[in-house]
Amino acid sequence: MTQLLPMPASDRADRGWWRRAVIYENHLPSFRDGNGDGVGDLDGLIASLDYLSGTLGVDAVWVGPFFRSPLLDQGFDISDHTGVEPVFGTLATVDRLLEAAHARGLKVIVDYVPNHTSDQHPWFLQSRSARESPKRDWYVWADAPNNWTSEAGGSVWEWDERTEQYYLHSHLKEQPDLNWRQPELRAAMLDVLRFWLERGVDGFRIDVAHMLMKDPLLRDNPPDTGGESNPYDLQHADFASQLHVNDRMHPDLHGVLREIRKVLDEYPGDRVSIGEVEAMDWARWAEFFGPELDQIHLPFAFKLIETPWEAGALAEVTAGLDAALPDGAWPILALGNHDRPRLATRLGRAQARVAAVLLLTLRGTPTLLYGDELGLLDQEVPRERQRDCFGLMEGGVSRDPTRTPMPWNAGPNGGFAPADAPELWLPVSSELATINVETQLADARSSLRLYRRLLALRAGSPALRAGDYARPPRADGGCLSYVREAGADRKLVALNLTGEERAVALGERGTVAVSTDPERDGEAVRDQLRLRPDEAVVVDLG
Ligand code: GLC
Repeated sequence: MTQLLPMPASDRADRGWWRRAVIYENHLPSFRDGNGDGVGDLDGLIASLDYLSGTLGVDAVWVGPFFRSPLLDQGFDISDHTGVEPVFGTLATVDRLLEAAHARGLKVIVDYVPNHTSDQHPWFLQSRSARESPKRDWYVWADAPNNWTSEAGGSVWEWDERTEQYYLHSHLKEQPDLNWRQPELRAAMLDVLRFWLERGVDGFRIDVAHMLMKDPLLRDNPPDTGGESNPYDLQHADFASQLHVNDRMHPDLHGVLREIRKVLDEYPGDRVSIGEVEAMDWARWAEFFGPELDQIHLPFAFKLIETPWEAGALAEVTAGLDAALPDGAWPILALGNHDRPRLATRLGRAQARVAAVLLLTLRGTPTLLYGDELGLLDQEVPRERQRDCFGLMEGGVSRDPTRTPMPWNAGPNGGFAPADAPELWLPVSSELATINVETQLADARSSLRLYRRLLALRAGSPALRAGDYARPPRADGGCLSYVREAGADRKLVALNLTGEERAVALGERGTVAVSTDPERDGEAVRDQLRLRPDEAVVVDLG
């Protein structure tokens, strides 16, 4: 009998549509309201697929959670993993989304939230009903709290009056943590994956993958005396007060990730896993691929978002990533995310355009947050309209400013919802007149047109989609430059991170393929590449 042997890592290296894709994070409630209730939904997303695949030209959409949920954490508090929250649609709408996306060649990535559920999930209601409940140990219970602090602020432990024990919640107290050491829970959660895979999803974004396993002895975390607070991570000060060594990153989590991966591999079509793994050094990040590339396909690297916008720091961080990347593995890259301040707010509009060139030309799979293609800024949200419960906690920092509605046009509600819709779930941008899809499509110098040019260039360039670095990123005089190549296709990328003119040595002839200043496109260059202030260019070296 022939025995099926595991595929060697080297043979896996070239497989997977996701290595050549650009992923778009649409953040469902914020993208487009299809039924006029003021909240983005699946019908709104379906109506936007032509924009994504045609106008913009991305390859995959990461939808954001749409499962049954009390929506205290934007749907990351799930009360039924296989049901759809009515505000977003129905199971039939999900099926229509998959069909309509696939008809356009777009892949669909959905969220998988394995670390916790809502406290309204039937599993938790049973677990908390009695100490003898058969589902008691599907969650983590303790007689006494330890010192762990929550991402949302305060202790991770909540006292349960009825059964006189504490339960663990790494986020809001309404988000109890699941116990992945319990085999039945494990099997039930793996079946959730199968449910969505059967329906045809192309992959999962695994929420807080680094938190799946905790120290089984629940030992205290040591205090953080280094004061390494990160300005780009909207963490609660309580959370930043200690080193989170025992409440996350337990080595046993890799066994769970292998099991998750095995389930994906049961299905045809290269279903992908993207793991949210928060800031950590590159060596630890690399562990998430697994020694045999048998864990997460694409561990999401936050480090790039968190790197100071400075040529030397960027050269260092990309070198760190490439040195740590296991043989045959491929990185995913992002400069924006629904949990962080927006790109244009962090860098300013001029450098946000430079960042677009970086994101779409570095070696890796880029992920683009909705609205970043327009240069959307964080929008202040008055306290009475805030939705993010993390932000409403004492001392909390709100993520609402990042999550305001996608501006489609300059009309009422920015085209996000019909004019007669009730108050929108979050206010629209105060810059609606210029920061919207319709206006920017008509303006050759707009941010959206820059993204389109870059995405079109990338789609037709083997070097940019798949090529290696012929010269890795290096910093010089406030500029970052690198060369990527695949066969005869060679592209030099040069970014001026300063507000002054700069020159980058070229040493050969080329043609500007895309510049942040569109009038330079097609310009012949040789020897020295002059860069205008805040300019980034991709040069075709032919
Ligand atoms: C992830 C999500 C974030 C959510 C948290 C808890 O970090 O990106 O939005 O609040 O997990 O599920």
